[in-house]
Amino acid sequence: MNPSQVQREPFRPGEPVLVLDDRGRRYDVVLQPGRVFQTHRIGLLPHDAVIGRPPGVRLYTDRGVPVVCLRATLEDAVLHIKRRTQIIFPKDLGLILIRGNVFPGATVVESGIGSGAAAMTLLRFLGPGGHLISYELREEFARLAGRNLDQARQYWGDSGARHTVRIGNVYDGIEERDVDTVLLDVPEPHRAAPHAAEALRPGGTLLCWLPTALQVYTLVRHLQGDPRWAAVETVELLMRPWDVSENSIRPAHRMVAHTGFLISARRVETDGAAGDAAPLTPPA
Ligand SMILES: C[S@@+](CC[C@H](N)C(=O)[O-])C[C@H]1O[C@@H](n2cnc3c(N)ncnc32)[C@H](O)[C@@H]1O
Repeated sequence: MNPSQVQREPFRPGEPVLVLDDRGRRYDVVLQPGRVFQTHRIGLLPHDAVIGRPPGVRLYTDRGVPVVCLRATLEDAVLHIKRRTQIIFPKDLGLILIRGNVFPGATVVESGIGSGAAAMTLLRFLGPGGHLISYELREEFARLAGRNLDQARQYWGDSGARHTVRIGNVYDGIEERDVDTVLLDVPEPHRAAPHAAEALRPGGTLLCWLPTALQVYTLVRHLQGDPRWAAVETVELLMRPWDVSENSIRPAHRMVAHTGFLISARRVETDGAAGDAAPLTPPA
């Protein structure tokens, strides 16, 4: 099933579902026939009462407390995947899709796949005709990400995008050519940037995700020194939730303040200094 068909399906056994109680508290429940969800305050809700019902259904617990049941979104899926690596968070993945100019049918190279959070998001948006190639050093992470992606396909549908995993070191090279976007989430992206320059089509986009400022400095100085890159930009995205109630509107006490920096650059032609195959002819 494709993602649009899945969204319209009734809840299925094994599916992760969000249950919201009358105070807006949320619970993550994996539906299993015969099981019962229960909390001290709201009482009992049999999973069988949810299975087969449409997403958004309003039900009552045995204590008469109303709850609504929602299908988990891509954001929920990313936040709840099994992780053995740091992941890129949903707020940053949204920015990556836009800054990376990711479009249906595009060819994207990423490294490494880690737990598969970025891969899951990219595959959803690449759609039929799209192709994601993931370079990953460690087989165990590729396997973990593969399981997370299989589960995501099972519950949220298959967008039809092709996925190729290459076990290897991205610092040694990127095989693909004519790539639209390269996303590097590795500790020393400046070591893979020359390979990204070979792989990207003219005008293609390089994105690098880095947690610390010293890494940013090393990478950005490298990109600024290579004429194959233009429009080198560094951004950080802060998302601050707000609490809104009848008598008070204010920022929430807690926020995830720092996740990482996104560095973007565009692949451009040169005057031949960096060995481009087809140097620009300077104007007469
Ligand atoms: C922080 S995780 C990536 C997380 C991933 N972007 C996600 O959203 O789930 C970094 C991954 O890069 C892999 N890695 C590190 N250096 C690498 C290299 N030189 N070549 C390929 N993969 C590498 C690590 O094994 C790890 O799986």
